[in-house]
Amino acid sequence: MPTKTRYDLSQIVLHWLIAILIGANYLLGDAMSDAFKALVRSGGSGALDGAANAHRLIGVSVVVLLFVRVALRLFKKAPAEVTAPRLMQLAAKAGHLALYVLMFAVPISGFLAFNGLNRDLGEVHEVLTNLLMLLAFGHALLAFYHHYVMKDGLLVRMIPGK
Ligand code: HEM
Ligand code: HEM
Repeated sequence: MPTKTRYDLSQIVLHWLIAILIGANYLLGDAMSDAFKALVRSGGSGALDGAANAHRLIGVSVVVLLFVRVALRLFKKAPAEVTAPRLMQLAAKAGHLALYVLMFAVPISGFLAFNGLNRDLGEVHEVLTNLLMLLAFGHALLAFYHHYVMKDGLLVRMIPGK
């Protein structure tokens, strides 16, 4: 069976779309936080502004898109691993798995905090978000390191082409 050299177009589109949506929600976080605190103070009777509603909508969309992405990952798999020491390949796998877990945990914790008007869960949501951002930043740095320093063409695997 021929092994592919890059991710399928559908997988690539979802990788970048989800990355953009997560980045956008990070930027909307402060507005959501202010709206949430006001909502908790009023016992849940206030209305949310546009930015806070966008935060909820984008966050829930991320979860829906993630289900599609995980299904594609299971059925379409990934390209063959780049040549690297076994330990590095395992570290990459663990890092990607952690990214998936956090990508789910962040919006789900936000959803639970919001629906339960629960400030402790709000704190959990914040901590998980910061962890996700840290990991995603490291992930992007490593991808560029692979591509430009190790020169193994890794980035091309996440860019459409023949
Ligand atoms: C891609 C997913 C998401 C990301 C990256 C994200 C990110 C953030 C960030 C950065 C904050 C601000 C934290 C701070 O003040 O420092 C925040 C707050 C909040 N988010 Fe999200 N969020 C996501 C999804 C959701 C969803 C789906 C909901 C609810 C339906 C939600 C509800 C909240 C609430 C209630 C707060 C206020 C928490 C508090 O101040 O204690 N988030 N989010
Ligand atoms: C500038 C930013 C980014 C770059 C350059 C980048 C680059 C890449 C590349 C090249 C791969 C393929 C790795 C391989 O073939 O082994 C990949 C995979 C992956 N990326 Fe990113 N990425 C970025 C942002 C993000 C963000 C923000 C997230 C999530 C929050 C993310 C999550 C993932 C995951 C989970 C995989 C594993 C895919 C799989 O095999 O299922 N990436 N990324």
